[in-house]
Amino acid sequence: MLSLQKAYQISEIEAWIQSVRELGKLSASTPLVLVVEPKWDGLAVACHYRHGHLVAGAIRGDGQQGQLVTANLGTIQSLPVELTKQNSIPQLFEVRGEVVMSRAQFDALNETLEKQHKPLFSTPRNAATGSLRQKNPQVTADRKLDFIAYSGLLSEAPREDFSSHWQILEQLAQWGFQVSAPRVRCENIDCVKAFIDKWSSERKTFPIETDGVVIKVDSLALQHQLGATAKTPRWAIAYKYTPQQAETVVETIDYSRSSSGRLTPIAVVSPVMINGTTIRRVNLHSLEEMARLDVRVGDTVVIHKAGEIIPQIVDVVKTKRHPRKRPEPIPKQ
Ligand code: IVH
Repeated sequence: MLSLQKAYQISEIEAWIQSVRELGKLSASTPLVLVVEPKWDGLAVACHYRHGHLVAGAIRGDGQQGQLVTANLGTIQSLPVELTKQNSIPQLFEVRGEVVMSRAQFDALNETLEKQHKPLFSTPRNAATGSLRQKNPQVTADRKLDFIAYSGLLSEAPREDFSSHWQILEQLAQWGFQVSAPRVRCENIDCVKAFIDKWSSERKTFPIETDGVVIKVDSLALQHQLGATAKTPRWAIAYKYTPQQAETVVETIDYSRSSSGRLTPIAVVSPVMINGTTIRRVNLHSLEEMARLDVRVGDTVVIHKAGEIIPQIVDVVKTKRHPRKRPEPIPKQ
Protein backbone atom coordinates (compact mmCIF):
# COMPACT_ATOMS: atom_id res chain seq x y z
CA MET A 1 0.00 0.00 0.00
CA LEU A 2 1.65 3.13 -1.25
CA SER A 3 1.44 6.69 -0.04
CA LEU A 4 0.79 9.83 -2.12
CA GLN A 5 3.01 12.67 -3.32
CA LYS A 6 1.88 15.90 -1.69
CA ALA A 7 1.33 19.41 -3.00
CA TYR A 8 0.52 22.53 -1.02
CA GLN A 9 0.33 24.92 -3.97
CA ILE A 10 -1.42 24.95 -7.33
CA SER A 11 1.95 25.45 -9.03
CA GLU A 12 3.04 22.06 -7.69
CA ILE A 13 -0.01 20.46 -9.29
CA GLU A 14 0.81 22.20 -12.57
CA ALA A 15 4.35 20.81 -12.40
CA TRP A 16 2.95 17.34 -11.72
CA ILE A 17 0.58 17.60 -14.73
CA GLN A 18 3.58 18.59 -16.85
CA SER A 19 5.54 15.55 -15.65
CA VAL A 20 2.59 13.25 -16.39
CA ARG A 21 2.38 14.66 -19.92
CA GLU A 22 6.10 14.18 -20.47
CA LEU A 23 6.36 10.68 -18.97
CA GLY A 24 3.15 9.63 -20.71
CA LYS A 25 4.45 11.09 -24.00
CA LEU A 26 1.21 12.99 -24.56
CA SER A 27 1.22 15.45 -27.43
CA ALA A 28 0.19 19.03 -26.63
CA SER A 29 -3.19 18.45 -28.29
CA THR A 30 -3.99 15.21 -26.43
CA PRO A 31 -6.40 15.85 -23.57
CA LEU A 32 -5.34 14.60 -20.14
CA VAL A 33 -8.35 13.59 -18.09
CA LEU A 34 -7.97 13.88 -14.32
CA VAL A 35 -10.31 12.87 -11.52
CA VAL A 36 -10.42 15.04 -8.43
CA GLU A 37 -11.94 13.72 -5.22
CA PRO A 38 -11.67 14.39 -1.47
CA LYS A 39 -8.73 13.07 0.51
CA TRP A 40 -10.36 11.19 3.37
CA ASP A 41 -8.73 11.39 6.76
CA GLY A 42 -8.83 7.87 8.12
CA LEU A 43 -6.90 4.71 7.43
CA ALA A 44 -6.41 2.78 4.22
CA VAL A 45 -7.84 -0.70 3.87
CA ALA A 46 -7.77 -3.27 1.08
CA CYS A 47 -10.65 -5.74 0.81
CA HIS A 48 -10.83 -8.89 -1.25
CA TYR A 49 -14.12 -10.22 -2.57
CA ARG A 50 -14.42 -13.75 -3.88
CA HIS A 51 -17.66 -14.65 -5.66
CA GLY A 52 -19.18 -11.52 -4.15
CA HIS A 53 -18.24 -12.30 -0.53
CA LEU A 54 -15.85 -10.26 1.57
CA VAL A 55 -13.12 -12.81 2.29
CA ALA A 56 -10.23 -10.69 3.56
CA GLY A 57 -9.58 -7.12 4.56
CA ALA A 58 -6.27 -5.66 5.66
CA ILE A 59 -4.74 -2.43 6.89
CA ARG A 60 -1.22 -1.27 6.14
CA GLY A 61 0.42 -2.97 9.12
CA ASP A 62 4.11 -2.48 9.67
CA GLY A 63 4.94 -1.40 6.12
CA GLN A 64 6.18 -4.86 5.15
CA GLN A 65 3.20 -6.94 6.00
CA GLY A 66 -0.42 -5.88 6.25
CA GLN A 67 -2.64 -6.75 9.18
CA LEU A 68 -5.85 -8.68 8.63
CA VAL A 69 -8.89 -7.08 10.23
CA THR A 70 -11.60 -8.91 8.26
CA ALA A 71 -14.00 -9.58 11.13
CA ASN A 72 -13.83 -5.97 12.27
CA LEU A 73 -14.39 -4.67 8.74
CA GLY A 74 -17.41 -6.94 8.51
CA THR A 75 -19.14 -4.83 11.17
CA ILE A 76 -19.02 -1.64 9.07
CA GLN A 77 -22.51 -0.90 7.74
CA SER A 78 -21.30 0.92 4.62
CA LEU A 79 -18.97 -1.93 3.63
CA PRO A 80 -21.03 -4.70 2.01
CA VAL A 81 -20.02 -8.20 3.13
CA GLU A 82 -22.16 -9.74 0.44
CA LEU A 83 -22.70 -8.28 -3.02
CA THR A 84 -26.12 -8.96 -4.43
CA LYS A 85 -25.79 -8.11 -8.13
CA GLN A 86 -23.94 -11.38 -8.57
CA ASN A 87 -24.02 -11.56 -12.38
CA SER A 88 -21.73 -8.63 -13.07
CA ILE A 89 -19.29 -9.37 -10.27
CA PRO A 90 -15.83 -10.72 -11.09
CA GLN A 91 -14.71 -13.91 -9.29
CA LEU A 92 -12.05 -12.03 -7.40
CA PHE A 93 -11.47 -8.35 -6.99
CA GLU A 94 -9.97 -5.88 -4.59
CA VAL A 95 -11.51 -2.67 -3.30
CA ARG A 96 -9.41 -0.04 -1.62
CA GLY A 97 -10.73 2.74 0.46
CA GLU A 98 -10.59 4.65 3.68
CA VAL A 99 -12.12 3.65 6.99
CA VAL A 100 -13.29 6.82 8.69
CA MET A 101 -15.34 7.96 11.65
CA SER A 102 -17.86 10.75 11.11
CA ARG A 103 -17.50 13.91 13.20
CA ALA A 104 -20.86 13.20 14.87
CA GLN A 105 -19.85 9.66 15.82
CA PHE A 106 -16.47 10.93 17.07
CA ASP A 107 -18.15 13.47 19.36
CA ALA A 108 -20.61 10.88 20.65
CA LEU A 109 -17.82 8.38 21.30
CA ASN A 110 -15.71 10.88 23.23
CA GLU A 111 -18.73 11.88 25.29
CA THR A 112 -19.27 8.25 26.26
CA LEU A 113 -15.58 7.71 27.02
CA GLU A 114 -15.53 10.82 29.17
CA LYS A 115 -18.46 9.52 31.25
CA GLN A 116 -16.57 6.27 31.72
CA HIS A 117 -13.42 8.20 32.76
CA LYS A 118 -11.52 6.64 29.89
CA PRO A 119 -8.91 8.42 27.72
CA LEU A 120 -10.41 10.35 24.80
CA PHE A 121 -9.41 10.24 21.13
CA SER A 122 -7.75 13.38 19.77
CA THR A 123 -9.06 13.15 16.18
CA PRO A 124 -11.66 11.17 14.23
CA ARG A 125 -8.76 9.56 12.41
CA ASN A 126 -7.19 8.26 15.63
CA ALA A 127 -10.60 7.09 16.75
CA ALA A 128 -11.10 5.22 13.47
CA THR A 129 -7.68 3.58 13.79
CA GLY A 130 -8.22 2.63 17.44
CA SER A 131 -11.67 1.27 16.68
CA LEU A 132 -10.56 -0.92 13.79
CA ARG A 133 -7.65 -2.37 15.72
CA GLN A 134 -9.87 -4.00 18.32
CA LYS A 135 -9.62 -7.63 19.37
CA ASN A 136 -13.38 -7.82 19.83
CA PRO A 137 -15.41 -7.07 16.67
CA GLN A 138 -18.38 -6.10 18.85
CA VAL A 139 -16.38 -3.07 20.04
CA THR A 140 -15.69 -2.09 16.42
CA ALA A 141 -19.38 -2.54 15.61
CA ASP A 142 -20.37 -0.16 18.41
CA ARG A 143 -17.98 2.47 17.08
CA LYS A 144 -20.03 2.84 13.87
CA LEU A 145 -17.23 3.33 11.37
CA ASP A 146 -17.67 4.15 7.70
CA PHE A 147 -15.94 2.92 4.58
CA ILE A 148 -15.42 5.07 1.48
CA ALA A 149 -14.12 3.29 -1.61
CA TYR A 150 -11.58 5.20 -3.71
CA SER A 151 -10.18 2.55 -6.01
CA GLY A 152 -10.63 -0.98 -7.18
CA LEU A 153 -8.41 -3.51 -8.84
CA LEU A 154 -10.72 -5.20 -11.30
CA SER A 155 -8.03 -6.67 -13.54
CA GLU A 156 -9.47 -10.14 -13.09
CA ALA A 157 -12.88 -9.02 -14.21
CA PRO A 158 -14.31 -11.47 -16.74
CA ARG A 159 -14.90 -8.62 -19.16
CA GLU A 160 -11.97 -6.29 -19.47
CA ASP A 161 -14.24 -3.35 -19.92
CA PHE A 162 -12.75 -0.92 -17.48
CA SER A 163 -10.59 1.73 -19.01
CA SER A 164 -10.88 4.52 -16.45
CA HIS A 165 -10.77 5.18 -12.74
CA TRP A 166 -14.12 6.97 -13.04
CA GLN A 167 -15.75 3.84 -14.50
CA ILE A 168 -14.41 1.73 -11.65
CA LEU A 169 -15.86 4.11 -9.07
CA GLU A 170 -19.24 4.02 -10.83
CA GLN A 171 -19.16 0.23 -10.93
CA LEU A 172 -18.28 0.04 -7.23
CA ALA A 173 -21.19 2.36 -6.45
CA GLN A 174 -23.52 0.05 -8.39
CA TRP A 175 -22.32 -2.92 -6.40
CA GLY A 176 -23.32 -1.10 -3.23
CA PHE A 177 -20.14 0.59 -2.07
CA GLN A 178 -20.09 4.12 -0.75
CA VAL A 179 -17.70 5.80 -3.18
CA SER A 180 -15.54 8.96 -3.00
CA ALA A 181 -17.84 11.94 -3.62
CA PRO A 182 -18.15 14.74 -4.51
CA ARG A 183 -15.80 14.21 -7.43
CA VAL A 184 -15.19 15.74 -10.84
CA ARG A 185 -13.52 14.88 -14.09
CA CYS A 186 -11.25 17.65 -15.33
CA GLU A 187 -9.25 18.37 -18.44
CA ASN A 188 -7.42 21.46 -17.25
CA ILE A 189 -5.93 23.08 -14.18
CA ASP A 190 -8.72 25.68 -13.88
CA CYS A 191 -11.25 22.91 -13.35
CA VAL A 192 -8.99 21.28 -10.73
CA LYS A 193 -8.52 24.62 -9.01
CA ALA A 194 -12.28 25.30 -9.01
CA PHE A 195 -12.92 21.98 -7.22
CA ILE A 196 -10.17 22.68 -4.70
CA ASP A 197 -11.66 26.12 -3.95
CA LYS A 198 -15.22 24.83 -3.67
CA TRP A 199 -14.23 21.90 -1.47
CA SER A 200 -12.10 24.10 0.80
CA SER A 201 -15.30 25.62 2.19
CA GLU A 202 -17.72 22.70 1.70
CA ARG A 203 -15.46 20.28 3.54
CA LYS A 204 -15.81 22.29 6.77
CA THR A 205 -19.44 21.24 7.18
CA PHE A 206 -19.09 17.80 5.57
CA PRO A 207 -19.97 14.98 8.03
CA ILE A 208 -16.55 13.36 7.51
CA GLU A 209 -13.18 15.05 7.89
CA THR A 210 -10.96 15.53 4.87
CA ASP A 211 -7.62 17.28 4.75
CA GLY A 212 -7.30 17.86 1.01
CA VAL A 213 -8.10 16.41 -2.38
CA VAL A 214 -6.54 13.67 -4.46
CA ILE A 215 -5.95 14.26 -8.17
CA LYS A 216 -5.65 11.11 -10.27
CA VAL A 217 -4.98 10.27 -13.89
CA ASP A 218 -8.29 8.83 -15.12
CA SER A 219 -6.97 6.52 -17.83
CA LEU A 220 -5.97 3.13 -16.40
CA ALA A 221 -3.66 2.55 -19.36
CA LEU A 222 -1.83 5.79 -18.63
CA GLN A 223 -1.74 4.97 -14.91
CA HIS A 224 -0.10 1.68 -15.78
CA GLN A 225 2.38 3.36 -18.11
CA LEU A 226 3.37 5.93 -15.47
CA GLY A 227 3.83 3.34 -12.72
CA ALA A 228 5.13 4.17 -9.27
CA THR A 229 8.29 5.02 -7.38
CA ALA A 230 9.17 2.95 -4.29
CA LYS A 231 6.79 5.07 -2.23
CA THR A 232 4.18 6.76 -4.41
CA PRO A 233 2.32 6.26 -7.68
CA ARG A 234 3.23 8.78 -10.40
CA TRP A 235 -0.39 8.94 -11.56
CA ALA A 236 -1.76 10.66 -8.46
CA ILE A 237 -0.99 13.58 -6.21
CA ALA A 238 -2.61 14.85 -3.00
CA TYR A 239 -3.28 18.53 -2.53
CA LYS A 240 -3.36 19.35 1.18
CA TYR A 241 -5.10 22.41 2.57
CA THR A 242 -2.61 24.38 4.62
CA PRO A 243 -3.34 23.57 8.22
CA GLN A 244 -4.49 26.44 10.41
CA GLN A 245 -3.73 24.17 13.33
CA ALA A 246 -0.80 22.05 14.33
CA GLU A 247 0.29 19.89 17.23
CA THR A 248 3.45 20.62 19.15
CA VAL A 249 4.93 20.10 22.64
CA VAL A 250 5.22 22.61 25.47
CA GLU A 251 8.90 22.85 26.42
CA THR A 252 8.60 25.31 29.26
CA ILE A 253 6.41 28.06 30.69
CA ASP A 254 8.04 31.48 30.55
CA TYR A 255 6.78 34.71 32.15
CA SER A 256 6.96 37.97 30.27
CA ARG A 257 6.95 41.14 32.36
CA SER A 258 5.34 44.37 31.18
CA SER A 259 6.68 47.82 32.12
CA SER A 260 4.04 47.99 34.86
CA GLY A 261 5.33 44.72 36.32
CA ARG A 262 2.46 42.55 35.23
CA LEU A 263 3.50 38.95 34.49
CA THR A 264 2.02 37.01 31.62
CA PRO A 265 2.57 33.26 31.22
CA ILE A 266 3.92 32.21 27.83
CA ALA A 267 4.08 28.62 26.63
CA VAL A 268 7.39 28.02 24.86
CA VAL A 269 6.74 25.25 22.36
CA SER A 270 8.82 23.17 19.98
CA PRO A 271 8.94 25.22 16.77
CA VAL A 272 5.99 24.44 14.52
CA MET A 273 4.94 25.88 11.14
CA ILE A 274 1.39 27.07 10.59
CA ASN A 275 0.53 28.80 7.33
CA GLY A 276 4.12 29.66 6.58
CA THR A 277 5.30 31.10 9.90
CA THR A 278 7.16 29.32 12.65
CA ILE A 279 5.54 29.46 16.06
CA ARG A 280 7.75 29.31 19.15
CA ARG A 281 5.90 31.23 21.88
CA VAL A 282 2.19 31.17 22.64
CA ASN A 283 0.64 33.76 24.95
CA LEU A 284 -1.43 32.15 27.71
CA HIS A 285 -2.77 35.58 28.79
CA SER A 286 -3.23 34.83 32.51
CA LEU A 287 -2.79 32.24 35.22
CA GLU A 288 -6.55 31.69 35.13
CA GLU A 289 -6.40 30.92 31.42
CA MET A 290 -3.41 28.61 31.97
CA ALA A 291 -5.37 26.78 34.69
CA ARG A 292 -8.51 26.62 32.54
CA LEU A 293 -6.59 25.02 29.68
CA ASP A 294 -4.63 22.94 32.21
CA VAL A 295 -1.45 23.27 30.18
CA ARG A 296 1.59 21.49 31.64
CA VAL A 297 5.22 21.29 30.55
CA GLY A 298 5.65 18.26 28.28
CA ASP A 299 2.03 18.39 27.09
CA THR A 300 1.15 17.93 23.46
CA VAL A 301 -1.00 20.89 22.50
CA VAL A 302 -3.00 21.95 19.47
CA ILE A 303 -2.09 25.44 18.33
CA HIS A 304 -4.36 27.53 16.19
CA LYS A 305 -3.62 30.82 14.53
CA ALA A 306 -6.55 33.03 15.53
CA GLY A 307 -7.47 35.41 12.74
CA GLU A 308 -4.57 33.65 11.02
CA ILE A 309 -2.15 35.87 12.99
CA ILE A 310 -2.04 35.33 16.75
CA PRO A 311 -1.21 31.82 17.85
CA GLN A 312 -3.20 30.32 20.68
CA ILE A 313 -3.54 26.96 22.38
CA VAL A 314 -6.96 25.53 21.58
CA ASP A 315 -6.55 22.10 23.06
CA VAL A 316 -4.33 20.00 25.28
CA VAL A 317 -4.06 16.44 24.01
CA LYS A 318 -4.62 14.76 27.36
CA THR A 319 -4.38 11.30 25.81
CA LYS A 320 -0.69 12.00 25.18
CA ARG A 321 0.06 13.25 28.68
CA HIS A 322 2.19 11.23 31.03
CA PRO A 323 -0.25 10.01 33.73
CA ARG A 324 2.02 11.15 36.58
CA LYS A 325 2.40 14.70 35.29
CA ARG A 326 1.42 17.29 37.96
CA PRO A 327 -0.24 20.64 37.22
CA GLU A 328 2.14 23.52 36.55
CA PRO A 329 3.32 25.20 39.78
CA ILE A 330 2.46 28.87 40.01
CA PRO A 331 5.54 30.98 40.82
CA LYS A 332 5.50 32.38 44.36
CA GLN A 333 7.96 35.19 43.60
S1 IVH B 1 -5.78 6.88 -3.87
C1 IVH B 1 -1.49 5.66 -2.79
N1 IVH B 1 -7.74 8.34 -3.01
O1 IVH B 1 -4.21 8.78 1.39
C2 IVH B 1 -2.43 4.81 -3.53
N2 IVH B 1 -6.09 7.71 -1.44
O2 IVH B 1 -1.46 9.65 1.57
C3 IVH B 1 -3.57 5.55 -4.11
N3 IVH B 1 -6.53 8.53 0.82
O3 IVH B 1 -2.89 5.62 1.94
C4 IVH B 1 -4.45 6.07 -3.08
N4 IVH B 1 -8.41 9.57 0.38
O4 IVH B 1 -5.32 5.93 2.54
C5 IVH B 1 -6.59 7.72 -2.68
N5 IVH B 1 -9.56 9.64 -2.42
C6 IVH B 1 -8.44 9.01 -2.08
C7 IVH B 1 -7.95 9.01 -0.77
C8 IVH B 1 -6.75 8.35 -0.49
C9 IVH B 1 -7.54 9.25 1.32
C10 IVH B 1 -5.37 8.05 1.63
C11 IVH B 1 -4.99 6.62 1.38
C12 IVH B 1 -3.49 6.61 1.21
C13 IVH B 1 -3.12 7.97 1.71
C14 IVH B 1 -1.86 8.44 1.05
